[in-house]
Amino acid sequence: MMETLNFGNRILDLRRFPLREKEPLRAWDAADEHILKNLLEDAPAPGSRVLIFNDSFGALAVALNHLQPQVWSDSFLAEQGLAHNLDNNGWDAGSVPFIPADRTPSGPFDLVLLKLPKSLAFWEDTLLRLRPLLAPGARIISGSMIKHSPARAYELLEDILGPTKTSQGWKKSRLAFSTFEPGRTLPENLPDETYALDDGTEFCSGPNVFSRDHLDLGTRFLLKNIPATDQPLQVLDIGSGNGVLALALAKQCAQAKVLGVDESYQAIACSRQNAKNLELGEERVKFKIASGLQEIPAASFDLAICNPPFHQAQVVGDQIAWGMFHQSRRILKKGGKLLIVGNRHLGYHVKLQRLFGNCRVVDSDRKFVVLESWVTGLVE
Ligand SMILES: C[S@@+](CC[C@H](N)C(=O)[O-])C[C@H]1O[C@@H](n2cnc3c(N)ncnc32)[C@H](O)[C@@H]1O
Repeated sequence: MMETLNFGNRILDLRRFPLREKEPLRAWDAADEHILKNLLEDAPAPGSRVLIFNDSFGALAVALNHLQPQVWSDSFLAEQGLAHNLDNNGWDAGSVPFIPADRTPSGPFDLVLLKLPKSLAFWEDTLLRLRPLLAPGARIISGSMIKHSPARAYELLEDILGPTKTSQGWKKSRLAFSTFEPGRTLPENLPDETYALDDGTEFCSGPNVFSRDHLDLGTRFLLKNIPATDQPLQVLDIGSGNGVLALALAKQCAQAKVLGVDESYQAIACSRQNAKNLELGEERVKFKIASGLQEIPAASFDLAICNPPFHQAQVVGDQIAWGMFHQSRRILKKGGKLLIVGNRHLGYHVKLQRLFGNCRVVDSDRKFVVLESWVTGLVE
C-alpha cells in the first residue's frame, strides 16, 4: 500500500515485511500516529535516551530517528522492516540499534514508547525487565488499538511500573501514561514455562514463544504423523517455535539432520536450549533466525514440516502460511515432501494442490488435517 505517514513536516514511505506486491495493509497503525501526535504536542526533553518496544516495522523509530532511539523487539521481520524503512527514508539502515527480545538493552532510558504485543505473558515479562532500565522520572507511553487492548494489559502497567492514566480514544487507539514507582519488590522477569510430551520429553519456552505452557493440539496431531526412519533425511521445520517438532523428529530419526527456522528470537533461543537439554548437538539439529526460506539453497531438503502461523502480530490471515508453502517448494529436492497440519476449515489442501499439483490427506480428525505434497519436477 502506497500510503505515507506524515510526521511534522516529514512524509515517510513505510513498508510492511515480508515485502509483498499489492500489500493491502499499512506498515503502521493509529496507535503509532497517536504516540507521534503526543510527542509533537509535548516534545521530549533534549538529550533524552529513547527506547521503543515492539515497533512493528520501524514506523516510530524512523519518525523519531533524530532522537537516536533504540528498538527492542522479538521479531526478525520487524528488524528487517526497520532496516528497510530507514534506508527507504534516507537514513542509514543500521542507524537505529536493534536489541532482540532474548537480550536486554542497556539503560537508563528517559523516554520509553511501548506498543502492546499480542501476548500478555510477553507484555508482563517486558515490563518486569524494563524496571531496572528506567531513569528516575522516565516518561512511559504505551499505545495500542482499543480492540486489541485487554484490561489486564493496563493492570500490568499499574502493578509493575506504577500509576497509569489512559487517554481518550483517538482513531480507535488509546495511549496509557505510566509513572514509574521505584522500590517495589517484583521478580526480574517471567520464568520460562515447561511442558512434557507423553514420552516425558520436556520443552521449555520463553514468554513470547508459541503455545509456551502446553503442547498445541495441532502440533500434537502433526507429531503423530512425522516419520520414524533410519534414512539420512535432511529435514526443515518451518516456524519451529520452541523446537518441539524438529527435536521430536531428530530423536526418532537417528540419521536425520534437522534445521528449524523461526522469526522469533525468543523461540530460537528456547529451541537451542531444548536441543541442549536433549543432548542433540549441532551436527544433528540446528536452529536459525529467519523470516522465510530465502537464504536456504534450492533443492536441499528431503522433507519440510510445518505447523503454520495464522497471524502476524494482531493481523490474522493465511498469507504467512501461504508464503511458507510457496517457498518450501523451491528448497525441496525432487521427490521431497512438505508435511503440514492445519485446521480443517482453512482449506490448505486447495492451496497445496495448486502449488505442487498434488496433495494427499495423511490423517484427519474433527478439527485438524495433516496434508502432504511432493515435488515432482524441477522448480523454476
Ligand atoms: C503455529 S507456530 C508453530 C510453532 C512450533 N512449530 C509448534 O508446532 O509448536 C508458528 C511459528 O511460526 C513462526 N513464524 C511466523 N512467521 C514467520 C516467518 N515469516 N518466518 C519464520 N517463522 C515465522 C512463529 O514465530 C511461530 O513460532
